[in-house]
Amino acid sequence: MTTSFATKYGLWALITGASRGLGAEFARQCAERGLNVILLATNEQLLKALAESIKQTYAVEVKTIALDLSREDILREITPITGSLEIGLLVNNAGISRVAPFLDHTPDHLVKQLHVNTRAGLILAHHFGEKMTQRKRGGIIFLSSASAMFGTAYCANYAATKAYNLILAESLWYEFKPLGVDVLGFMAGSTKTPGWDANQPKPAKFVKVMDAKTTVAEALKALGKQPSLVAGRTNRLGYFFLGKTMSRSGAIRTVSRSIENLFGPFDGRA
Ligand SMILES: NC(=O)c1ccc[n+]([C@@H]2O[C@H](COP(=O)([O-])OP(=O)(O)OC[C@H]3O[C@@H](n4cnc5c(N)ncnc54)[C@H](OP(=O)(O)O)[C@@H]3O)[C@@H](O)[C@H]2O)c1
Repeated sequence: MTTSFATKYGLWALITGASRGLGAEFARQCAERGLNVILLATNEQLLKALAESIKQTYAVEVKTIALDLSREDILREITPITGSLEIGLLVNNAGISRVAPFLDHTPDHLVKQLHVNTRAGLILAHHFGEKMTQRKRGGIIFLSSASAMFGTAYCANYAATKAYNLILAESLWYEFKPLGVDVLGFMAGSTKTPGWDANQPKPAKFVKVMDAKTTVAEALKALGKQPSLVAGRTNRLGYFFLGKTMSRSGAIRTVSRSIENLFGPFDGRA
């Protein structure tokens, strides 16, 4: 008999970066699978609106946490709300992605990006992962990116944070598996979200932009089956061939040029 998603990862899912884009879609699809959801992001208004819409559509409970994940004391703000709730699924989705030359970003922006994209997920995975392993049940998804695989110009710090997430997820996949907890490093590819649009991409013949629904469904399906996954068949093939047929420098040049073609020319936008 196959165990249902809700039996494996219930009762509650905590989803960071849930006010829009992939995070909002993770929340909808978790609710659709019968999980109560906790939505976390900074924009309280968007969180409340999504919470209402999820409550009206699915018979689940919804809570919201308006919090900036770059803060030092995130657990102090989160634990009073998660309290004794059984968080069976953690989706470390919140991320800051702004495409621009490295030196056009301020150090403050880069450090904030580092904290939101890596530190926050690390702290949450440790806190909730400990409880999941004690219960011998649960799942954690880390949002990585296809940019985790090779150095990617104009996204240098972003790509490095995504590589961190990938390796942390794959390592925990092995450590937590015997303890009953599934971990997935999910390398999303180009997906149409407000964050994607904010970087003002140009239409590109060779880039297949996925929709959030398909991307998220792939992640939830892969959880428990493998340590990591590149989203989308086209992306999987593309990155497989890059790795197999090109030198490291060749692959870095190829992905960096594709960023320039999609988002450039760069004229000091950060
Ligand atoms: N879309 C893509 O093409 C793509 C590709 C590869 C990987 N990814 C990854 O997938 C994840 C979601 O991407 P997306 O495209 O859906 O991004 P998005 O549309 O920009 O949404 C990002 C989410 O993160 C939240 N967030 C940002 N800063 C935060 C902070 N300081 N504290 C708390 N929450 C914060 C935002 O909410 P608030 O503004 O309300 O705080 C929002 O809910 C990210 O980790 C991204 O790196 C996306």
